[in-house]
Order: sequence, then structure tokens, then C-alpha cells
Amino acid sequence: MFASLKGVMIASLFATASLAAVQAEPSNFKLYAYTGRTIGGSPIFYADGLAYAGANSSLANANEVTGVNFTASSDGTWTATPESNVTWSSKVLYISNTTGEVGFTNKGNSSSNIITSGFRFYDHNALLKAGSKMEASWRVKDAGNTVWGLAWGTDDDDSFVPIMLRNVAPVTNASKTE
Ligand SMILES: *[C@@H]1O[C@H](CO)[C@@H](O)[C@H](O)[C@H]1NC(C)=O
Ligand SMILES: *[C@@H]1O[C@H](CO)[C@@H](O)[C@H](O)[C@H]1NC(C)=O
Ligand SMILES: *[C@@H]1O[C@H](CO)[C@@H](O)[C@H](O)[C@H]1NC(C)=O
Ligand SMILES: *[C@@H]1O[C@H](CO)[C@@H](O)[C@H](O)[C@H]1NC(C)=O
Ligand SMILES: *[C@@H]1O[C@H](CO)[C@@H](O)[C@H](O)[C@H]1NC(C)=O
Ligand SMILES: *[C@@H]1O[C@H](CO)[C@@H](O)[C@H](O)[C@H]1NC(C)=O
Repeated sequence: MFASLKGVMIASLFATASLAAVQAEPSNFKLYAYTGRTIGGSPIFYADGLAYAGANSSLANANEVTGVNFTASSDGTWTATPESNVTWSSKVLYISNTTGEVGFTNKGNSSSNIITSGFRFYDHNALLKAGSKMEASWRVKDAGNTVWGLAWGTDDDDSFVPIMLRNVAPVTNASKTE
């Protein structure tokens, strides 16, 4: 079920992304997770090094939780700045290419198990440039009823729900426009 949904969504995204130039990077943005109905545009936030969508109050055991703003550099590194007073001031978004987890690490981390650059937008959708391809295999994984861990996924596991990751806030709330 999720696999077929993803197929349609990503196929159409690829079709357009491969034909046109990727848009200029916004200088300051937030990321929002969208699914059909489950998550209608939930800001991505930081909790103990990982990226989540949903209710930040649900991660009661986390030591550090904060909303994040991002800036993009020309190589597609997305640097997060915390909105709350936490122990760090700047971290970069990563995707683990061993586990698919998405989180935040120190700038310049040269571990070969993480991808920290190549992030782009096409029509406000976050993509990863891998070789000559643009991919958008964003997923969320249930971490409780009201909070979801952001992931980069395969279709092997049905507990990973495909999402669109966008840099625009939901239009239903006028106070949260771009
Ligand atoms: C948690 O989310 C609420 C509602 O979006 C926000 O007002 C609050 O600042 C957030 N807390 C943290 C620690 O980011
Ligand atoms: C985060 O971005 C929002 C809107 O883009 C802005 O209003 C807010 O001041 C920023 N916060 C920080 C801590 O930079
Ligand atoms: C941030 O937290 C540190 C450590 O708890 C504290 O010393 C500092 O005063 C706080 N800064 C602000 C602006 O709240
Ligand atoms: C670099 O990333 C790896 C893989 O996620 C992590 O285990 C390691 O702690 C990170 N190192 C630093 C200095 O952030
Ligand atoms: C992870 O991705 C990076 C960047 O594409 C690559 O250099 C590295 O070899 C990959 N590591 C694994 C374990 O696949
Ligand atoms: C819009 O979001 C703001 C901030 O989260 C909230 O205070 C306000 O009540 C929301 N308005 C509506 C109509 O949902």
C-alpha cells in the first residue's frame, strides 16, 4: 500500500525534476512533513540528535528538544540553527546510508556512513541529488502515536510511511506562511 503510493508520488516528482532546473535555494527556511491525512504539514524538529515531525512534547525522555531553522549552502548542505537555548548553535542535516535515520551532526563530520550534502529543492520539495538523479525517498517512522522519526527509506518496511518534505508551512494557518 505504501509502496504503491510512493511509486506514484515519486514518479511524478522525478518526471518534473529531471526536466527543469532546480530552484534557487531559500536562505532561511523550515522543513515540514506532509502526508495525505496523517501529517498535514508538521515542522521538523530536533531531539537528541535526530529529526522528528509531530508533537515535540511526546518525546518526554529526550534531553534536548528544539525547533530548527535551516540555511542552505551551495553544495546542498543544510545547516540547522536551534530556536531554543540548547547546548549547540549549529548542526548539519544528515541521512545515514546504513540505517536511513535522519538527524543532525557536527559540520565537517567526514564519516562515510552519512550524507550531509546534495540536498536541493524542486518546487518546494526537498530532494537529494545522488549522482545524476534526484531522489525524494523521505519517510516517517512511528515513534509513538503523536510523533514520527524522519527517515530515508526503502519500501521493505511498511512501518515507514512515505512523506513529502517541503519548505512551506501548511496554508491552513495564516500565521505560519513562508
Ligand atoms: C514545541 O512545539 C510548540 C508548538 O509548536 C512550540 O510552541 C514549542 O516552542 C516547542 N518546544 C520546543 C522545545 O521546541
Ligand atoms: C526562524 O525562522 C523564522 C521564519 O523563517 C523566523 O521568524 C525566526 O525568527 C527564526 N528563528 C531563529 C532563531 O532564527
Ligand atoms: C542558556 O542556557 C545556559 C545553560 O543552562 C544558561 O547559562 C544561559 O543563561 C541560557 N541563555 C539564555 C539566553 O537563556
Ligand atoms: C559523525 O557521524 C557518525 C555517523 O552518524 C557519528 O557516529 C559520529 O558520532 C559523528 N561524529 C561527530 C564528531 O559528530
Ligand atoms: C554513503 O554515502 C556517501 C556519499 O554518497 C558515500 O561516499 C559512502 O560510500 C556511502 N557509504 C555507504 C556505507 O554506503
Ligand atoms: C495558527 O498557529 C498559531 C501558532 O502555532 C496558533 O497560535 C494559532 O492558534 C493557529 N491558528 C489557527 C487558526 O489554527
